[in-house]
This record gives sequence, C-alpha cells and structure tokens, in this order.
Amino acid sequence: MSAGTTDPNPPGGRRGEPLPAELLDAGERMTAGELAEHQLRHLRATLRHAYDHVELYRRKFDAAGVAPEDCRTLGDLARFPFTTKADLRESYPFGMFAVPVEEVRRIHASSGTTGRPTVVGYTEHDLSVWADVVARSIRAAGGRRGHKVHVAYGYGLFTGGLGAHYGAERAGCTVIPASGGMTARQVQIIQDFRPEIIMVTPSYLLTLLDEFEKQGVDPRSTWLRVGIFGAEPWTEAMRHEIEERMDIHAVDIYGLSEVMGPGIAQECVETKDGLHIWEDHFYPEVVDPLTDRVLPDGESGEIVFTSLTKEALPVVRYRTGDLTRLLPGTARPAFRRMAKVTGRCDDMIILRGVNVFPTQIEEILLRTPAVAPHFQLRLTRQGRLDRMAVRVEARPDAAPEQREAAAAAIARGVKDGVGVTVEVDVVEPYTLERSVGKIRRVVDLRER
Ligand code: DLL
Repeated sequence: MSAGTTDPNPPGGRRGEPLPAELLDAGERMTAGELAEHQLRHLRATLRHAYDHVELYRRKFDAAGVAPEDCRTLGDLARFPFTTKADLRESYPFGMFAVPVEEVRRIHASSGTTGRPTVVGYTEHDLSVWADVVARSIRAAGGRRGHKVHVAYGYGLFTGGLGAHYGAERAGCTVIPASGGMTARQVQIIQDFRPEIIMVTPSYLLTLLDEFEKQGVDPRSTWLRVGIFGAEPWTEAMRHEIEERMDIHAVDIYGLSEVMGPGIAQECVETKDGLHIWEDHFYPEVVDPLTDRVLPDGESGEIVFTSLTKEALPVVRYRTGDLTRLLPGTARPAFRRMAKVTGRCDDMIILRGVNVFPTQIEEILLRTPAVAPHFQLRLTRQGRLDRMAVRVEARPDAAPEQREAAAAAIARGVKDGVGVTVEVDVVEPYTLERSVGKIRRVVDLRER
C-alpha cells in the first residue's frame, strides 16, 4: 500500500502477505485429522462438564433423552438440544455458570435491547484462550509483534474493547485503548501515535472518516495499514469503500459474547475470502432456522456454535441468529470458513412477503456514486401495507440533479435486485445519526 511513509514493516506486507509458517500457533498447525480428533475429545468433555454442572443442560439433555456419552462422533452432536438467548435470560444472572462464581475472573453482558441482559463469565483459563484466539486473529489480519493497535471498540460490559485489548497484548502489540467516542481526539491520536492497526466497528470507522474530513486530514496519509472490523454486518462494497478511502486492508472479525466475544472467526488478509473459524475452540454447525435441520457445508442458514474449551460458560449448540454458510478452509486449510454474515434472522425485514436484509441495501447504495455510505431504513404501515423508505445521505459534492438520478437508480436497483418497491430519500450530508459502536440501520415505525 502506498502511504508516503517509510514504514519498514507494514502489517501483512504491502499486498497482504500470508503469515510465515513459523508464526502459526500449535492449533493452526493441526492437520484435519488431528483437528477432528481434538474436537471430538473436547466436545465430549464439554458435554459432560455442562451436564454435570449446569442444571439447565441436565434438564434439557434428560428431556431430549441424550447423555454426554451418546456423543461418539462429531455428527452425534445433532442429537443434542439447542441453547438459546432465552435460556441465558431465564438463568439470569449466573445460572448457567459451570464453575463456582469465585472461579469467575470476569463478567461481560450484552446490552439487551429488551428485557434482561445476557450475562457471560470467564475463568482465568477462558480469558487466556480468548486472548490467544484474538491474538491469532490479529496475526491473520497482518498484525505482528511491535505493531500499535488502536482499539476503538467500546470498553465495558461489551466484549469488543477488552476482547481486542488483551488479544493485541497477547500478540505482542502495543495497545492504544481508545474505546468508542470522543471522535475528534481519536483522529488526533491516530495521527500522533501512528498505529498500524485499528479495531473498530465499520460504522464507527465511517464516523472517524467524517472527522478526518472535518479536520482537513487525508485519511490515506496515516500509518494505518489494516482495519479489523466486526460486531455488525458489513459488505464487500463497504470493504471496497473503506480500503479506497483509507488506503488500508479491511478484514472481518466475528464473534458474540455468549460464545466468547470477538475472535471466534477471522478473515486472513492475504485471501479476504470469508472468516476462518477457530475450530479448535468453537465447533460450528449451520442449521435451517425454520426446521432446525443441520445443513450440509455450503448451504446458507443460521450458524450454531458449541464451545470446546470453555470452563465458566460452556455453550452447547448455541443459536446465534446469524445467517451465513460454511466453506472449506483456504489460508488455514484445516479450519472451515464462514461467509460474511448476511444479517441476523431477527433483523430480516419482511416486506410484503419479500425478505430484505440491510446488507442488500448497503451493496446497492455503495454502487451509487452520488450517495455516501450513511443510510437508514424506515418501516411504516399504511392501512395493511408495509412500506420501506431508504434514507441515504448525498455525498457533499453531489449536485442536485445527481441526487435525483441517484434516488431513481437506487429505487430501480432495489426493485431489480431485491424485488421490492421502496421510497428513496437522498438527504443532506451529515444529517443522519452517526454510530459510536454498533449502528442501528432499521427504524421500525410500524404499530405493533
Ligand atoms: O459484537 C463481539 C464482537 C466485538 C465481534 C467486536 C467482533 C468485533 P455481541 O455484542 O454479543 O458481541 O454481538 C454479537 O454481533 O451475533 C452478530 O449478529 C453481530 N456480529 C458480530 N461480528 C460480526 C461480523 C460482539 N463480523 C452479534 N459480521 C453477532 C456480522 C457480526 N455481524
């Protein structure tokens, strides 16, 4: 990448070079056969641990007529019951912990837009595994010992900030714990401290980009070489937008607090072809969200995880709600990949019978030159008919006739590509709400 600097050691190389074999950790060096053996052994131990120490699992396994020793092959996992967010909520706060609370070194919790939050706990060993998988993710993204990592994921009960933080330290990086917010200061710090890597939600990165512009700083002129983006869905089109505007490699990191936090799966910088799942710690299945049937690799559905090494909060077949598919490994051949997440089952908008995901709209908007990547989807109901309006900001330099043409092109793109009719409102630059963490794309104004 060109940056006009004399950086001697850009993360991942100028073209996003693969991790040298000597920097792979023991888990990454496993062959497929070794991995399968490791998975079965740890799966059986996890089922036993969960059954023996968590009342909810004991009840659910007994009701389903399965015992931990019934899992003799990886395929046998399909006989075990699923775990859901509702299970965690029901056992609020610590009912699903499989160790005494005194053994828990840290607690995180999801914000929980409705009802009780979900609470998760980690033993010392869990925290160490978490740091290891995030460190592995950072190396896969091109991070190396000695690089500075600017962490702009929120610190606190959210797993993003602290998860990234300890992983970056474990990777031998220098952490800048910026957290979310105080955007003007973040831009200053990025210029002065010269981090090579930023870890942030893609939507907050866009907010930072606004601030670069406001301060008259060229975002391509920083020392940043890699952005590790996650915690919300984002598209290939957004990757292109960010890479162009910042002159960095943009890679995807996935995770959820119930299973661990960030670092369950990570995209490798040299391939950028979906996220390798760290399968030595998290066993994935993809199921049909309606029939619950396990789907073969390659088919799209809801991804479900079983933890293999967790002590405080083992999870068995946890329903993530995230839609994706499993693909064979590439840069890390023993680990399967998950395709970029399209969206969550519960974020899907059903508009007059057609399923719509905000990511589909994002792809279309980012193909349209006169509009900025800031948008919001508004749902209203007129009579018995649901309507969706796409509100998107014009680029500051777009002329009025370009805005009009953009609105028409977007409406046509959505009609042709998604199959629904939407209203498109191209609004003034800098008028839509900005993100400081996870963005809310859908505003539902329909009466319940
Ligand atoms: O968002 C953990 C995380 C922090 C991941 C920082 C990556 C980076 P939760 O707050 O529990 O945990 O939210 C988890 O966020 O089920 C997905 O719906 C969504 N999500 C997370 N990563 C991605 C991603 C963190 N890369 C929920 N792409 C998950 C799409 C993602 N969606």
